[in-house]
Amino acid sequence: MRVLVAYATRHGATAGIAERIAAALTAAGLSAEARPVQDVQDLEPYEAVVLGGAAYMFHWLKPAMTFARRHHRELADRPAIDAWAARIAAELGVGQPARGRVRP
Ligand SMILES: Cc1cc2nc3c(=O)[nH]c(=O)nc-3n(C[C@H](O)[C@H](O)[C@H](O)COP(=O)(O)O)c2cc1C
Repeated sequence: MRVLVAYATRHGATAGIAERIAAALTAAGLSAEARPVQDVQDLEPYEAVVLGGAAYMFHWLKPAMTFARRHHRELADRPAIDAWAARIAAELGVGQPARGRVRP
């Protein structure tokens, strides 16, 4: 399974977290890559997407919002984020995955 870990960062912390997530997914046998949202045009190559963005003053960074809005259909079309999260969580041997879908 090819997984995209897309992130929006201002000072780099979220990028580091995204790299750690991608490394953990890769160690679990998946093909995962962390990329800034601005660098991603097409979700077609990916079967699952992890989207992370830093929050400032109670708002997600704008590039993360833009990405979620631009790709919300593709994100929703991916076979249930819950299922992917559950599978990834199971493969990583961690607890309950976060639930929910991206809402434009
Ligand atoms: C001015 C300022 C405002 C912040 N506002 C929030 C916030 O509203 N909610 C939150 O959870 N974190 C907030 N934070 C914490 C940042 O989201 C956190 O430090 C994050 O790791 C920064 O990520 P980045 O280095 O990828 O930009 C704020 C930080 C700063 C400096």
